Amino acid sequence: MEKSSSDSSSRSQTPPSFSTRAIHAGESRSRCADSMTTPIFQTSTFTFKNSRHIEEYTQEGQEHYEYGRYGNPTAQVAERRLADLEGAEDCIVFSSGMSAITTTILALIQSGDHIVFTDDSYKKTLEFCNSFLKKFGVECTIVSFGDYDALDQAVKKNTRFIVSESPTNPYLNIFDLVKLKAIADKHGVMTLIDSTFSTPYNQRPIEFGIDLVLQSATKYLAGHNDVLAGAVLGRKEMIDQIRNLHKIMGGILDPQACYLLIRGLKTFPLRVQKQNESTLKIAHFLENHPKIKRVYYPFLESHPHYKIAVEQMSGGGGVVSFEIKGDLQTAKRFLDSLKLCTIGPSLGGVETLITHPAMVSYYDFSKEEREQLGISDTLFRLAVGIEEADDIIEDLNQGLNQ
Ligand SMILES: Cc1ncc(COP(=O)(O)O)c(C=O)c1O
Repeated sequence: MEKSSSDSSSRSQTPPSFSTRAIHAGESRSRCADSMTTPIFQTSTFTFKNSRHIEEYTQEGQEHYEYGRYGNPTAQVAERRLADLEGAEDCIVFSSGMSAITTTILALIQSGDHIVFTDDSYKKTLEFCNSFLKKFGVECTIVSFGDYDALDQAVKKNTRFIVSESPTNPYLNIFDLVKLKAIADKHGVMTLIDSTFSTPYNQRPIEFGIDLVLQSATKYLAGHNDVLAGAVLGRKEMIDQIRNLHKIMGGILDPQACYLLIRGLKTFPLRVQKQNESTLKIAHFLENHPKIKRVYYPFLESHPHYKIAVEQMSGGGGVVSFEIKGDLQTAKRFLDSLKLCTIGPSLGGVETLITHPAMVSYYDFSKEEREQLGISDTLFRLAVGIEEADDIIEDLNQGLNQ
C-alpha cells in the first residue's frame, strides 16, 4: 500500500484523472490476499515476529504498524487517497471533522498566540476557539466574512494563523483565496481553510498556497450519511506535528469507518458532479418561483461572490439556501408538506436533506439574536443528494404551493 497511483507513471505518461485517482490512489498494485477491496484491519494491535523484528522497527526505522492509535493500514489507504485528491503532501484522518479541527489547532498553537477567524465559520469551530481556547491564554479575533481590510488589520505580531471556510453555511459565501494568501504572506502567518462544502472536486485550496485544509469527511467525501470522519491535509512537516498530537488525543478513525470512507471516495467525483448540476438547476428553479424571496447559491449570478466563485471553483457544490415568502408558520407548513426531501441537519450524502436553521442550529437563540446573524424564520438550507433534480424540484414545488 505504499504507492499512490499518481506516482505510478511507469504505466502511463499522462497522470490519471481525478475520478481514476478517487478509485485507485493510495493502493498498491499487489493487494493484500489479492482482495479487490481494501481490507478492514480490525485490530487494535500489530505483532512482532521476534526480537530482531522489534529492533528493525525501533532502531532502524523499518515501516511497521504497532498499535491502532498510532496507525492502521486501512486508515493509511484513506489518508493517501485523500492527500492525492487534495494535492497535499500528507493527510491524517480523524474520528470526526471536529476532531480534525480541534487537534490541528491545538497542535499548532501555544499560550499567548492569537488566531483570526471569520464570523461565518462553523459554529462549533468558533465556540472552540472563542470560548475554550481562551482558558489557555489563546486570543481570538473574529472578523466579518468578506471584509479583507478588517482581516488584514486584525493580524497582530502574535497571530499564528487565519482560519476560515469556503463556501460558508448557510449563505454559501466564498472566500477569495488569492486575497487570503496575499494577506497571510504579508504578515507571515499560516492559513487554514475548512473546505468541507467545496470538496477537492470543486476547489483545492493548496493550489492557492493555503497551508492546511480541513475536511468534515462525514459529508461529501464519505457521502452516504452513514459515517462520521474528518481529515487535515497539508505539507508533511506540519502534518507530522499534528500527527504527534493525534496520537495523544486519540481521535482515530475506526478501521470500519475508514473502509466506508474509502468506498465512498470511489464514487465521490460522480456524486459531486451530479450534485453540482442538480443544485444549479434547483437554484434556478427556486430563483424563478413566485413564492421565493431570495436564493443563495455561489454559481448564481445574483450571488454576491459569483465572480470569485466561478474564477476559483469548478462547481458551486451541493448546497443551496433560500428564503420563502411568509412567516414561521409558512415555513413550518412548507417543511411538513415535503415528501422526498428529508428533514435533517447534515449535507453531502446521497439523500437530499433540508434543514431550517432557525428551528435547528439556532433554536436556542432569540428571534432578535437570530435576525442579527441574518437567520430569518423562513430561511432553509437544502443539501441536494443524487436523486433526479426534477424529482427534487417537483417536491419543492408542491411544498411551496401548499
Ligand atoms: C463546515 C463544517 N466543518 C466542520 C464540521 C464538523 O464536522 P463533523 O460533524 O464531521 O465533526 C461541520 C459539520 O457539520 C461542518 O459543516
